[in-house]
Amino acid sequence: MKKILLTNVLFFGAFVLLTGFSAAASPSVCIECHGGLSGQLGEIPTAEWHTSVHSRSRVSCHDCHGGDPTDYVEAMSADRGFIGVPVYAEVPAFCGRCHVGVEEDYRASLHGQVVEFGGPNCVTCHENHAVQVASIDLINEISCSRCHTYDKPALIKQEISDTEAMLSRLDNSIASLYRVGFDTGQLKDELFSTRNNFRRLFHSVDIDKIRAETAGFDADLEETKATINALEETLGQRKIVGGAFVLLLILGGCIALLIRRTYENKE
Ligand code: HEC
Ligand code: HEC
Ligand code: HEC
Ligand code: HEC
Ligand code: HEC
Repeated sequence: MKKILLTNVLFFGAFVLLTGFSAAASPSVCIECHGGLSGQLGEIPTAEWHTSVHSRSRVSCHDCHGGDPTDYVEAMSADRGFIGVPVYAEVPAFCGRCHVGVEEDYRASLHGQVVEFGGPNCVTCHENHAVQVASIDLINEISCSRCHTYDKPALIKQEISDTEAMLSRLDNSIASLYRVGFDTGQLKDELFSTRNNFRRLFHSVDIDKIRAETAGFDADLEETKATINALEETLGQRKIVGGAFVLLLILGGCIALLIRRTYENKE
C-alpha cells in the first residue's frame, strides 16, 4: 500500500510540474471569451465547468483542451498546444493523461475494448464539463440500462457498497479526530490512497476481479480502522483525565470557600 501511495504522490507532483497546474487560478482568456459566446460553444460549457470538481481543483479549459490561456489572439493555435475537441474513441486518452490508473483499468475492461463499437467512454458516465466527485450512485438503472440490462451492474454495485460505506465511516472518524486536535495527516493520506485505488477498480466492470480485490481493500481499511480506534481510546482517556482534573478544581474551590467561611465566622 505504501508503494501505491508513493506512486500517487510522485504522479501528482509530476502532474503539477507538467501542466503548470497552479497557474490555472490566474484569469483565463478561454473563460473570458467563451463565457460571452452562446450555447454549446460558450455559456453551456462555461457554466457547467463552474459547478465541477475540476473547477474546484483548478483544472481549467486549457488543462483539458490545451492552448494558451494568457494570449487572446494565439489562445487556440496548435503552436501553443491547442488540442481541440476529442472524437468519441479518443476521450479515454484525453482524460487518461491525468487519470492514469483509471484509464488502465478501463482499457482492460470490456467497455474499453468495445469503445469503437458502442462501449461507453468516460464522458458517457461522468459528463464532459459538469464532472462531479464520483460515487457508486453513478451506477444506477437509468444510466446503465442505456445499452444493456441492469443485472450485472446491480451485482457490481452490491459488491462494492459495503467497502464504500466503510470508507465514508472512516472518513467521518478522521474528521472528528482532526476537530479535537489530533494530527491526522498520515491517516488521511492512507485513506485517500486506498479510496482512489478502490474506485478505479470499478472500471474493470469485471465482477470476479472486483470480488477478489475488494477483500484486499477491506483488509487495508481494517488496519486504518485499528489506528483510528487506538486514537479514539486515547481521546477517551484524555476525557477521563480532563474530567478528573475539573472535579479536583471544583473540589479545591469548595474547600477553599469552606475554609474562608470558617475563618470569617471566627472573626
Ligand atoms: C477571442 C475568443 C476566444 C478565445 C480567447 C478562445 N476561444 Fe475557443 N473558440 C472561440 C470561437 C469563436 C470558437 C468557434 C469557432 C472555432 O472553432 O474557431 C471556439 C472554439 C473552441 C473549441 C471547439 C473547437 C472545435 O473543434 O469544435 C474549444 C474546445 C475551445 N474553443 C477551447 C478554447 C480554449 C481551451 C481556449 C483558451 C486556451 C480558448 N478556446 C480561447 C473563441 C475563443
Ligand atoms: C475535464 C476536461 C475538460 C475541461 C476542464 C473542459 N472541457 Fe471542454 N470538452 C471536454 C470534452 C471531453 C469535450 C468533447 C465533448 C464530448 O465528448 O462530450 C469537450 C468539448 C468542448 C467544446 C465543444 C462543444 C461541445 O460541447 O462538444 C467546447 C466549445 C468546449 N469543450 C469548451 C470548453 C471551455 C470553454 C472550457 C472551460 C470553461 C472547457 N471546455 C473545459 C473536456 C473538457
Ligand atoms: C489536466 C488533468 C486532468 C484532466 C485532463 C482530467 N482530469 Fe479529472 N481530475 C483532475 C484533478 C486534479 C481532479 C481532482 C483531484 C482528484 O480527485 O483526483 C480530478 C477529479 C476528477 C473526478 C472526481 C474524482 C473523485 O475523487 O471522485 C472525476 C470523476 C474526473 N476527474 C473525471 C475526469 C474526466 C471524465 C475527464 C475527461 C473528460 C477528466 N477527469 C480529465 C485532473 C484532470
Ligand atoms: C454506451 C453504452 C453503455 C453504457 C451506458 C454502459 N455500458 Fe456496460 N457494456 C456496454 C457494452 C457494449 C458491453 C459489452 C457487450 C455486452 O455485454 O453487452 C458492456 C458490458 C458490461 C458488463 C459486462 C462485463 C463482462 O465482463 O461481462 C458490465 C458488468 C457492464 N457493462 C457494466 C456497466 C455499468 C455498471 C454501467 C453503468 C455505470 C454500464 N455498463 C453502462 C455498453 C454500455
Ligand atoms: C460505465 C461508467 C463509467 C465509465 C465508462 C467511466 N467511469 Fe469513472 N467512475 C464510474 C463510477 C461508477 C465510479 C465510482 C466507483 C466507486 O465509487 O467505487 C467512477 C470513479 C471514477 C473516478 C474516481 C476515482 C478515484 O480515484 O477516486 C475517476 C477519476 C474516474 N472515474 C474517471 C474516469 C475516466 C478518466 C474514465 C475514462 C477512461 C472513466 N472514469 C470511465 C463510472 C464510469
